[in-house]
Amino acid sequence: MRVVDIINKKKIGHALTQEEIEHFVQGYVKGEIPDYQISALYMAIYFQGMNDEEIANLTMAYVNSGETIDLSGIDGVKVDKHSTGGVGDKISLIVIPLVASLGIPVAKMSGRGLGHTGGTIDKLEAIQGFRTALSTEEFIANVNNHGMAVVGQTANLTPADKLTYALRDVTGTVDSIPLIASSIMSKKIASGADAIVLDVKVGSGAFMKSLEEAKKLAECMVQIGKSLKRRTIAIITDMNQPLGHEVGNANEIREVIDVLGGKGAEDETTVALTIAAYMAIASGKYHDFQSTYGELLQVIASGKAIEKLKELISIQGGNPQIVHEPWQLPQAKHHIEILSTHAGYVSYIDAEYIGLVAMQLGAGRKKKDDPIDYAAGVTLLKKVGDYVDLNEPLCILHTNLDHVETNVLKAYAFQDSKPAPMEYIHEIIK
Ligand code: URA
Repeated sequence: MRVVDIINKKKIGHALTQEEIEHFVQGYVKGEIPDYQISALYMAIYFQGMNDEEIANLTMAYVNSGETIDLSGIDGVKVDKHSTGGVGDKISLIVIPLVASLGIPVAKMSGRGLGHTGGTIDKLEAIQGFRTALSTEEFIANVNNHGMAVVGQTANLTPADKLTYALRDVTGTVDSIPLIASSIMSKKIASGADAIVLDVKVGSGAFMKSLEEAKKLAECMVQIGKSLKRRTIAIITDMNQPLGHEVGNANEIREVIDVLGGKGAEDETTVALTIAAYMAIASGKYHDFQSTYGELLQVIASGKAIEKLKELISIQGGNPQIVHEPWQLPQAKHHIEILSTHAGYVSYIDAEYIGLVAMQLGAGRKKKDDPIDYAAGVTLLKKVGDYVDLNEPLCILHTNLDHVETNVLKAYAFQDSKPAPMEYIHEIIK
């Protein structure tokens, strides 16, 4: 089989067979097919798309390129959750203890941040001593004994996705629905979840900029889940401004503590509770959204959620006392208040731009192996819909860098009248 024939076939819009898909995925992982051929093929896929069968086959070819995790040693329906990536997106850290508090096992495999979007593993590592490199045995034991565990992706899980993702990043082929869907779903299938809840972000800080595109991506992933016999629900949530008030690693942990303590921002709390409720429904243990949402509010009000977060920190090697003394988390040397140059209502905060500012301050990586500064980040004092006076503080930049050249004000737009309330949840696709 010649790769050039596969490229030509896709170039003119024909569907690829399972054999052809497996051939190029395996050949690429073994180093037998060069980057330039896979780049050309992925650009052809970008323009011509793939049908449902091709996407399911590509997903399974990624899964079969490496090891898979067997979670059958854990009792009950194991639920996982995945976000397509956002700014200030700390939802995973909120829903793990919340859903586990309902007695539903949460076996969460998470990644690190890259570019303007953050990653759960980096955020957790802001807690001194927190271990994310658990062996499969310890991971399973923690879920069995405590109902929850979080682990970083093992090196050998879906290596084909890892390789092609890096190539897509530099060849303009990231924002392709079949390629994103197979990339995300392969990781979820390989990590052994029975049920999957997908947080599909839409807006300025997301890969999918329009609701129409986000809907297509969500439907595509739900279809893959269905064809591979995994209960899958996708929730399209808003990413037209950063989620909550905190962007960065240590400061996002502080905000998680606030949400689980019942003092969270409205957008963050609504999105987290909606996702947690659908995780409970996907597990089969709960059925009705409203009553599940109500029970989650109870779990927060009773203090059970915050106790569960302490348990998670403790079993993975961190000091649970930080929940009561969040100032013990890494703190930056400089806290720079940015004053508003306008009087009026905030009408827009460019999430991607804020993510890039946080990255510049040290909170994220420009390249895969760059070190990060857990203390760096941005606190948004005003969100869309809030009124701000001239010279009133709009946000705070936290950094250990002595010189910062950034114009965070470029992320903001203002208007004279109060904008309509934002919708946090756009659509649910089952
Ligand atoms: N997240 C992934 O894991 N893969 C993509 O292709 C895009 C976002």
